[in-house]
Formats: sequence, C-alpha cells, structure tokens
Amino acid sequence: PTPTPPPSFAISFAAVAANQDDRVTVPDGYTADVLLKAGDSVEAGTPYSGSFPASPAVAEKWAGGGHDGMEYFALPEVDANTRGLLAMNYEYPDFNILMAGDYDPAAASADQKAIALSAVGIGVVEIAKGGDGKWTVQAGSTYNRRYTGNSSYRAGGPAAGLLSGSIKGMLNNCSSGRTPWNTYLTCEETMDNYLDPAQPETNYGWVVEIDPLRELAVPTKRTAMGRFNHENVAFMASTDRRVAFYMGDDTTPGCIYKFVPDRAYSDTNRAANTDLLDYGTLYVARFNGDGTGEWRALVVGENGLTAGALDPGNTSQSTTPPTPTTVDFNNQADVLIKCQQAARVAGGTVMDRPEWLTVAPDNSAIFCTLTNNSGRRVADPANPRIRNLHGHILKFSEEGDSPLATKFSWEIFLSAGDPALAAGGSNLVGDIEGDTFSSPDGLRIDPQGRMWVQTDHSVPGSSGVDGTTIDGTFGHNAMFYVDQQNKQSKRFLVGPLGCEITGLAYTPDLTTFFVNIQHPTGDWPVAGEAPRSSTIVVRRTDSQPVGN
Ligand code: FEO
Ligand code: CA
Ligand code: CA
Ligand code: CA
Repeated sequence: PTPTPPPSFAISFAAVAANQDDRVTVPDGYTADVLLKAGDSVEAGTPYSGSFPASPAVAEKWAGGGHDGMEYFALPEVDANTRGLLAMNYEYPDFNILMAGDYDPAAASADQKAIALSAVGIGVVEIAKGGDGKWTVQAGSTYNRRYTGNSSYRAGGPAAGLLSGSIKGMLNNCSSGRTPWNTYLTCEETMDNYLDPAQPETNYGWVVEIDPLRELAVPTKRTAMGRFNHENVAFMASTDRRVAFYMGDDTTPGCIYKFVPDRAYSDTNRAANTDLLDYGTLYVARFNGDGTGEWRALVVGENGLTAGALDPGNTSQSTTPPTPTTVDFNNQADVLIKCQQAARVAGGTVMDRPEWLTVAPDNSAIFCTLTNNSGRRVADPANPRIRNLHGHILKFSEEGDSPLATKFSWEIFLSAGDPALAAGGSNLVGDIEGDTFSSPDGLRIDPQGRMWVQTDHSVPGSSGVDGTTIDGTFGHNAMFYVDQQNKQSKRFLVGPLGCEITGLAYTPDLTTFFVNIQHPTGDWPVAGEAPRSSTIVVRRTDSQPVGN
C-alpha cells in the first residue's frame, strides 16, 4: 500500500465552468493536446486522411474507435515519466471514418464486417515526451501493436474448453485494468455476437489479459473471472501479494464481483504469474440493509448453484416480480458462462449499472460508480432511488482491509444530480457539494489518493433518460475531482460536443494525465474534418503535477 498523499499533492486548480463549447476546456495554466485519434497509425501503414480504408488490412493498423479504458506501462530501464507504453481500449468503431452510410451487420459485405471488427479491441503504442513537453507516438516502435476483432485469442480457465481452439476476436472493449505483474486487462462489455452468427455465443463477454511487453502468454480470455457485460477491473493487493480483482457488470441491472486467485503473485518472477488468473474464486457482492455486505462464492454446488436452480430474474425493474426460471449449473463452466443468472441465484444484489470500480491506495476503501437506472421500480438500500436518472457512487470497505475478506461494510458515498433540478423531483437532485454532475462512469483514485470522476450523460438539450431532458446546467460531459472527506466536487475538464469522457492514465510523477474523448460529434479534434474519438494529454504548463 502507498502512503497517504503528501500535502504537495493537495488540489489547487481553479475549477472550470460547465459549458457546451465544441472543444476541450481545462483550467488556467493547463494544456490539452491530442495524442492519438481514431484512424491514426498504431502499426506502420497508411493512416486515415479523409478517405475510407481501401481494405480491412489497412484499417487493421489504425487506432480503432471509441477510445475508452487505458493504462500506462513502464518500459524496462527507461524513465517512465518521459517514455512508456500506453495500452488503450477501442469500444466501438468510429464508422464515419470507415465507410459511407449506416453500418448494418445484416447487409454488410465480408470486407465491411472485417473493417468494423478492425476498429474494436485494443492498441498498444510507445509514447515519449519531447523537449517541448509534448508527447508523441513513437512510429516504428516494436511495441506498437493492434489486437482487434479479427485477431486470434486463447482461452484459459474452467470454461476454456467451451471456447475450443483459437478464438476469433474481441468486442466492445469498454474499460480496463491491470495486474500487479503489469499485464493489461481489457474488458468485453458485450456478450452477444451480433456481427458473426457463425461464432459460438460464448465468445464474448470476458476479461482478456494482454502483456504489452509480449513476454508472457499470448492474449488470453480469462474465463475464471466470469462472463458478463464487463466494465473495468481494479485490483487490491496485500503486502503478502494476495490480490482481489473487482469488476462491475454494466447491465440494467447488474452485480458487482470480485475474483481472488488461489495463489499469491510473484513480484520477482514475472513469468510465474502466467495463468494465475485461471485458478481462483469468483464472488458476487450482496449489500445488506444494515450497511454490512458479504461476498458469495460463485462455485458450482455452493450457494444454490446446482442443476435445477431457480433464477429469480430481474426483480428491480418492475413491482410485479418476474416468474423465476430454471437454470442448470452442472459444472463450473456453466456457472461462469451463465454468470449473471448464477449471481442472482447466489443472492447477489442487482445494482444500478455498475461501471468503474477503484481501490484507494491504502486499501481502506473501494468505490463504484452506479451510472443510472431510469427503469428501476423497486428500490433497495444500496440502490435507493426508483427512476435513478443521475446515478450514485458507492463506497465499501473490506473486513480488515483484506482482498481475501468475505465480509465488507458499505455506504452510499454520494448521489449524483443537481439541486437546480429540484422542480423535477427528488431523483434529479442528489447531494453533491460544489460542481454537480450526472451519470458518473469513469472513476479512479490516483496514486496520491485523489478521486477523479468522469461522466457519461446524454447530450444537453437532447431527450434524456426516461423521457426527461438533461438540463444544460451539466453542460457537456466532464471530469471532476471529488474530495473524499467533504465530498466537494470541482470540475477539471469539459469535453467537446457529443462526447463522453472516459479513460484515465498517468505517468508515475502525475505530471501527465492521459484522458479519452469518446464519440465526439461536432468539429473536433481537427476543424473541418470528421469528428474522431481521441486520446488527449493534459499537463500543467509549468510541469508541476496535475491537480496540484
Ligand atoms: Fe462501455 Fe458501460 O461503458
Ligand atoms: Ca463506461
Ligand atoms: Ca456509460
Ligand atoms: Ca461508451
């Protein structure tokens, strides 16, 4: 565990105002530069320059679209504050640079499908800071690599046999995480194979482990971590190298999970951690009304996970309970593939769309964004608002601050919303102090213990969730610092038209923040060109740590 933050890392930036400008707004004394746009070269080739790709092979070398979760990795023997690897997720194609008209998978040609699949997955790029302080992608680096929806993957863990042989593709790589042995974890948010009916339905919906240094295993779908609409992964490690990986299922509604490997990891022999994620116990969180909680093991034969189990179904979205359905859990592969049903059978609490989780550096708390759930009709203590239009953030603490705990305590950290919306009813208001926001999604506590929240709400003025209108008071999607003691929020960055703000990575000295601008729709990042999802670099002009 990292010590508590020194005073030098206190927050002192001047908050920016909510706005609907078609640009990135950062505080005075900061700069925001575009580092990598959809269609830029990751591997050597011809980047996008206003023309659609001539073939799937061309697009396969590009940065994909829908930039989302990302992680920064040090290179051996290199000052990581000035050079390193950035691994990033591509959640969804930026179709406007790929092909004319709307993409219709039912009518698409084989080439069009392959081009669409080229734009999901991940990219790894070597980046370096020049003498002018600006970061650039290092063209020609042997580390630069795409892993796409057309690439092949291996499977590990109890359900690997059902994904037999070489697996084609990753899909909807939403958010991400890392392991203590510095591999990248990319999360598939979609389980349905809507692009290729010939593929078995168990292809998608997994956490995929990829080593950006390419020293360990080839990219592997880790089935022991369960199959659901994965958002991100955040780990907690103890001093004796035991580790838990926390994960959310961004479903309406979905559960919160953790996976605990059977063995401690090695911090001296990286290769000894290969396949560590194939052996361990998956748990689902149950939030009790008295502020206690428990982790229930999703293990065949335990917690009702047997043949002929009764799945209560989705009990939160209607005051009329659904008719339970019978599900057979004959082996652990059944439990992992039908993970959402297994979680409900085992008594997991269905939450208001768990997006990101993050772990405090001292292991004292874990936070989770519950982005919104306008369809909730049955409240519970951890999801207390029916028609939860703006979401909330949950805080929980493991017993003994241990990743191995099977019990925890929890509280609602904050409810999102805006007091200015009071006339619309209590579900719009929330209790944020300072700069208000809606629909928290991206969430990270940085190594200095400072919490950053990124939002994904509807475009102001558009028809918002559940027939309401997202009020202009929120402005465009934005990134906030939130004080964990007084819950005071300060708006740090505002995105351009139509985007959500997601993805957050940083250099070890925290002087450089990497942020993703996903699906902009206006005249950004390059005036006069098609809008493109992009990674930006945020720095202070005086080179001091961001936020300081
Ligand atoms: Fe891809 Fe749940 O955000
Ligand atoms: Ca998200
Ligand atoms: Ca979201
Ligand atoms: Ca998204």
